[in-house]
Formats: sequence, structure tokens, C-alpha cells
Amino acid sequence: MEQSSLESRNLCPQVTSEVLCHYWHPVARSSEVTDKPFKAKLLNQPLVLWRSNGTVAAFYDLCIHRGTPLSLGWVTDGELVCAYHGWRYAANGTCTRIPALPPDRAIPNKARASSFKAEERYGLIWVCLGQPRAEIPEFPPEFNDAAFRWGPYSTDGFWQANAARMLENLADYSHFPWVHPGTLGDPDNPESEPISIAPLDGGFQYDIPQPVNRLRPDAGARQTYKLILPFMLVIQRWQPGGSERQTNIFLCCPVSKNETRFFRFMGRNFVGHLSDEELGRRHRLTFEQDRAIVESQRPEELPLDLSEELHLRGPDAPAIEYRRQLRELGVDWN
Ligand code: FES
Ligand SMILES: [Fe+2]
Repeated sequence: MEQSSLESRNLCPQVTSEVLCHYWHPVARSSEVTDKPFKAKLLNQPLVLWRSNGTVAAFYDLCIHRGTPLSLGWVTDGELVCAYHGWRYAANGTCTRIPALPPDRAIPNKARASSFKAEERYGLIWVCLGQPRAEIPEFPPEFNDAAFRWGPYSTDGFWQANAARMLENLADYSHFPWVHPGTLGDPDNPESEPISIAPLDGGFQYDIPQPVNRLRPDAGARQTYKLILPFMLVIQRWQPGGSERQTNIFLCCPVSKNETRFFRFMGRNFVGHLSDEELGRRHRLTFEQDRAIVESQRPEELPLDLSEELHLRGPDAPAIEYRRQLRELGVDWN
């Protein structure tokens, strides 16, 4: 059933792991989709995002007439116009006008754009290529808490890496002393404390001590990780006995098997000893340090068979759980 619904949408055959088509993925910031068509890619499928009278629509980015990207076109009166012969498409994909035909000639039934489910939430455009098996993942309540400032800390970018490799790196903490010495980890104290994994709706969570990257200079913090499959991670940092809190929300969008667009939101409810500029500098440094590792990992796709690579009981528990749950979902990179 789902297979045929995908086929009828004319997805190109090189879709990245078909099961991922049935989840919502953030493909762009809302602010990027203005009155012009915006080109995006999800699971190796070229997409055009555009607004019909304000409401966002997502189409497969090829005109059925002659295979021209619809993203080369423009929007007129709430319809998308193809740049080559001016065919016009309504938000539901129906072709409403073929200018080369006289008005009394019927528009062929096949003249349609493939449209996908699109939603706008949290300042992002979310697309599901198939039939959603889960809701758009919920952001933690502090995202709407007036005591938190999020504005200065929002970033996004592209990595030449598999989305699951990237997310696993974000969820991994035993690399801190080696990849982020001084900012997130201490090479003289590389041992990871035991953690316990608890189930969460759509994923799992765990908690680690974070002695190096402090909220206040006088005491170490703890971090709670909440991983929602397939590609969202929330890291809440808090100080036992204190009210200071800092939350990171990471979303990895699988552009293709080995390309990821990430969106990162960070908010905090206090003015700390680190300025916004210093926090921004540390974040960029941390991400560059991680990127160098993750983009070079081989195989590029995260192995989901636990007999591949070598897993340590203890520090690799989140990675083991993540791989196990991705596999349970039916993710398969071939
Ligand atoms: S290719 Fe789009 S109208 Fe001809
Ligand atoms: Fe890292």
C-alpha cells in the first residue's frame, strides 16, 4: 500500500531508505521560502518549496512536461508557473493552465505535479514524502518559555555525512576529551560514568555528568539527552541545585544518504559567565571538530547491524540503542 503510494508520486528510484519517507523531516527554514520557489532536497528527492497565498507547498522538482525543475519558475496568483512553457500548477499539484493550448482543449489528466505533505512549525518547513508514521516531533516546553532566549543561538548548515552518523556523534559523549579538549572534555579524565538508558515515546533518554562545560564557574552541570528517532536530539543542561538551564535542539535532515542539513536551536534562561559571542565561537569550533571526524567515517552510512564495528558496554550504550531502534524502524541504506 505504502509502496504504491510512493510509486504514484513518481519518486526517483534512488530514494534514501524508503521507510524514512514516512517520517517528517525539516527541509528549510520558513524564512527561506518567500514569494519565490525554493529548491531543496530530501532523501535524494529534488523538491521545490513554494507558497500559495501564504501556505507552504512541496512538489517534486520536475515538470512532467519536459523535466524542467519547477524551482526555475515563479509564483503567480497562488500558482506555480513552470519556466519553460508556462504550465501553471495549483497547490494540490493540479495543472490549471497550458498556455500553448486553446482554452477549449482539455488539460491531460497526467499533467500534474507530484505534491507532498508540507507543514510549517517551529520556524521550519517540514515535509513527509509518504504516509506519516509519527507526528512532527515536539520541541521541549522551554522552547516557548519566555525566560529562555533562543534568538542569538540558532544555526544551520550542511555536512557531507550520513544523518544517522551525525546524530550518533551528537549523542556520543566519550569523544569529548579527545575531540573537544578544554571545551567539552578533559583528556586527563577520559573515563565515562555509567549511564542508564530509559525509554521515551519515539526514542530514549539518558543523563551524564558534564564537569567541563559549566553553566556557572563554580560547579559542574549535568546533561539529559533525549533522542527521538529518526534524527532529533534534545540536550538539556542543568545544574543540580541551581535554576540555570541551557537546551540544545538538533535536527538532522537526510538530504541524501551522505548529505545532511542540520538545524540547531539553543536557548538558555540565564546570563552566564560566557557571553553570546563566546558561546557562538565555541559552538562553531565544536561543530568543526566533529565535522572533521564524521565526514571521514567509513562506511559513510551508519552500520545498523550490531556485529559491524565494535561496541563497548557502557560508553557506547546510546549508540547501540540508536542503531538498534533505527533497525527496528526498518531503516536500510541500500
Ligand atoms: S517543461 Fe514545464 S511547461 Fe514545459
Ligand atoms: Fe562532538
